[in-house]
Amino acid sequence: MNKNIMTFDEWAILGKDEGMERGHHKSVEHMFKMILEKNYKNYTALDLGCGNGWVVRKFKDYSLCDDAHGLDGANHMIKKAQKLDPQGTYFNENIESWNPIQKYDIIFSMETLYYFKKPEKIINKIYNDGLNEKGLFIMGIDHYAENFESLDWGTKFNLDITTLSITEWVGLFKQIGFNDVQFTQVESKENWKGTLIIKGTK
Ligand SMILES: C[S@@+](CC[C@H](N)C(=O)[O-])C[C@H]1O[C@@H](n2cnc3c(N)ncnc32)[C@H](O)[C@@H]1O
Repeated sequence: MNKNIMTFDEWAILGKDEGMERGHHKSVEHMFKMILEKNYKNYTALDLGCGNGWVVRKFKDYSLCDDAHGLDGANHMIKKAQKLDPQGTYFNENIESWNPIQKYDIIFSMETLYYFKKPEKIINKIYNDGLNEKGLFIMGIDHYAENFESLDWGTKFNLDITTLSITEWVGLFKQIGFNDVQFTQVESKENWKGTLIIKGTK
């Protein structure tokens, strides 16, 4: 099994998914503000690397969101998501081999895109196979070259990670064809450059 998925599967067993939910929720609030600015109506959403599915349930709390699904490679993350939301749709799949069976208006991803050797392949799949026309992809990451405090996470947490700079991440979105690409850094503090949020429209 993929090393990152194994690590996060153990984290789910240890209950660390709840810590991630608490740790990420402020940055995710910023991401939701950016989504809501767009006035989407009757939209569908997918959370890639959904963990225990807390963001999927957040999407579903909005009346203008018709449906939201979650996808994660860690079996115990998905089991938790299904237990918390038995009617919900959660896929237990590796994003690298994921073949979307439907397209979405919004694809969201928090703290997941740097777990791939070639994130451009995943972003390309999101653009071509995952998103409806005019669909939005929005991601948040805490590990990137300028955020020095995050640079040892690979060894510290036993994860395979890819370190890119802000310019490189934004460049990938543009190279793949996203329009209206915007980025921001939120929740920064001393010695912490904050969550890098990037969004682009198909
Ligand atoms: C840092 S956690 C973030 C979870 C959630 N988005 C949150 O903010 O709480 C990263 C998630 O990505 C998932 N993940 C990592 N690599 C993956 C892969 N190749 N395929 C599917 N899921 C993956 C992990 O299982 C984990 O749940």
